[in-house]
Amino acid sequence: MSITTSTEGITNEGNNLALIASHSHITGLGLDDNLQPRENSQGMVGQLKARKALGIILRMVEEGKIAGRAILIAGPPSTGKTALAMGLSQNLGKDVPFTAITASEIFSKEISKTEALTQSFRKSIGIRIKEETEVIEGEVIEIQIDRSLTGGHKQGKITIRTTDMETIYELGNKMIDELSKEKIIAGDIISIDKSNGKIIKLGRSFSRARDYDAMGSDTKFISCPEGELQVRKEVLHTVSLHEIDVINSRQQGFLALFSGDTGEIRSEVRDQINLKVGEWKEEGKADIIPGVLFIDEVHMLDIECFSFINRLLEDEFSPIVIMATNRGISKTRGTNYKSPHGLPLDLLDRSIIIQTENYQEDEIESILKIRCNEEEVEINNDAIKLLTKIGVETSLRYASNLISVSYLMSKKRRSNEIEIEDIKRAYLLFLDSSRSVSYLQENESNYIDDNGNVEFNKSNGDGDVVME
Ligand SMILES: Nc1ncnc2c1ncn2[C@@H]1O[C@H](COP(=O)(O)OP(=O)(O)OP(=O)(O)O)[C@@H](O)[C@H]1O
Ligand SMILES: [Mg+2]
Repeated sequence: MSITTSTEGITNEGNNLALIASHSHITGLGLDDNLQPRENSQGMVGQLKARKALGIILRMVEEGKIAGRAILIAGPPSTGKTALAMGLSQNLGKDVPFTAITASEIFSKEISKTEALTQSFRKSIGIRIKEETEVIEGEVIEIQIDRSLTGGHKQGKITIRTTDMETIYELGNKMIDELSKEKIIAGDIISIDKSNGKIIKLGRSFSRARDYDAMGSDTKFISCPEGELQVRKEVLHTVSLHEIDVINSRQQGFLALFSGDTGEIRSEVRDQINLKVGEWKEEGKADIIPGVLFIDEVHMLDIECFSFINRLLEDEFSPIVIMATNRGISKTRGTNYKSPHGLPLDLLDRSIIIQTENYQEDEIESILKIRCNEEEVEINNDAIKLLTKIGVETSLRYASNLISVSYLMSKKRRSNEIEIEDIKRAYLLFLDSSRSVSYLQENESNYIDDNGNVEFNKSNGDGDVVME
């Protein structure tokens, strides 16, 4: 079977926009060259132990030798578990695949749970393919284009030279468009990929150095290539194993990658691809880059998913799997027994666990300041102190949600800065979870309960009304 890997023009699907917005201030794990965490760097504050641990994972991924490991980030809500994973993803090299999913996504697809998991695993494995292509490299001497009267059909010639030879090539429509798109003119040194007609402008020839003033300072001058015009070059491109699956599965085809609607892929297709990729690796044509699969809120998976993950981790192509959960001892979905973090013991046994801890007051203050900065909001000192106090007593997430609300309130006062009053009003207007709980406990009878019972107009003592 011949396997296609060309996915030119395909970018990773951006289905995690909402997830990223609340972490948009994070640009990395904030580590120094020795992978030691800095107190406040790249948008990351505190949580030093967890960041140090993730630094080691980062090194593991970079070396690309270890795959099929499971890591669990466990800790109380809003202690930065998701933030840490986002930081890690930003520190990974550009060729290393990183896939982020939320466990509940697995159940909302039109494909089975196991297929959805398999696809996520395979999206996280990169295959770096080496290909030899023929390119024409030289200095453009002359471009001559004849347009037909209607303008629809174009035809032309290009003269290219090296220091040793000179050749005239015929140009078709596509090449003429490409040349004008890249704004190629005489005196440019260019490289044309013979397999797909792509043109790259390498720079300007030294022989045209006197044009310097006309070209501007960003022009790069290089010398005219020597030797043959046609040379063989090695090019590298990276695709994910999932992309290779989709392109080669007959029912789906290449376009499915754009819609994201890839359906189930037959296991025979995958087997053949694994075999082929294995061969390429043996022959030195491809490198396998195990990336990272991040499964957020992992306790939402059920026992079938967990046991399938166990299996996938043993697959010959497996990424490093990072999971995050805020559950303590709780039930594993699909079973009647409880286990730590809601994960079955066999999976837990395979995992190394990174713990996140609740933040200190000064850390909360720093994070809130970073968030204000990120949301481009001015806040005065008293207000940030109050907001920090709220963060300590309720949660970091509640406090950071108050930023945008109180900013709108300050705007209403025609002020450009959040002051203590705005925070107070926002705090009274929007409940945090603990105030909401106590309100519920006091007024329980006014709400519909599990049996459909509710009491209307408690004050005039009408008694229970049963809802159908
Ligand atoms: N150490 C940190 N440095 C900077 N920002 C942080 C840090 N920790 C958390 N944040 C920010 O605080 C907010 C809450 O953190 P996050 O969503 O990562 O918590 P979580 O541990 O994933 O919580 P949950 O268990 O509810 O999913 C986010 O906006 C996050 O970017
Ligand atoms: Mg989270």
